[in-house]
Amino acid sequence: MPTRAWFPTLIYSEPLRPANLARYNADLADECRRLRDYDDAGRRWSAKNYPGGYTSYASMNELHRFSSTFEGLARHLDRHVRTFARQLELDMKGREIALTDLWVNIMPENVTHSGHIHPLSFISGTYYVVTPRGCPGLKFEDPRIERFMAAPPRRSDARPAFRSHITYPARAGNVILFESWLRHEVPPNRVTSERISISFNYNWK
Ligand code: NI
Repeated sequence: MPTRAWFPTLIYSEPLRPANLARYNADLADECRRLRDYDDAGRRWSAKNYPGGYTSYASMNELHRFSSTFEGLARHLDRHVRTFARQLELDMKGREIALTDLWVNIMPENVTHSGHIHPLSFISGTYYVVTPRGCPGLKFEDPRIERFMAAPPRRSDARPAFRSHITYPARAGNVILFESWLRHEVPPNRVTSERISISFNYNWK
């Protein structure tokens, strides 16, 4: 083959663990909602920066440090992140991965989260706790998009890997991982019930 593809962008999607996810997610959802009730600073921050929704991103973003529920989640996530780092062929010999931030996002109807990256970490991701039917997924953008400049648009029947965006559906019990520089967004939630997810960043040392 004279023409080959280079510079892959990897996105990882797997169930968190094999069994009893429904019960596990019900407990997590309770804890997320209790956190929203308790976290006055987070609700104030969200009112300005995440209109209609709640996130503990700016107030309680190290949840794995003081709740056994979230600490248990972090232990599962560590395993997935190590696997993903291997798939990325990163040289982790003598290096350790470290979960730095873990926070809750509750997204009622009409709430959206516009495009962003996660600076200061190398692998980021989301775990889905409550995903009502029809709720938005996680939409990723081709990292080269601002360099395309003079390129014509892709054909409408282009293979998915050649398109400028890919949306992963939000599925309760699934974890999605990506490199932290990869721009992503959550389109508006068009269903009446709330979508709950837990996002996180990993660094290495
Ligand atoms: Ni994000």
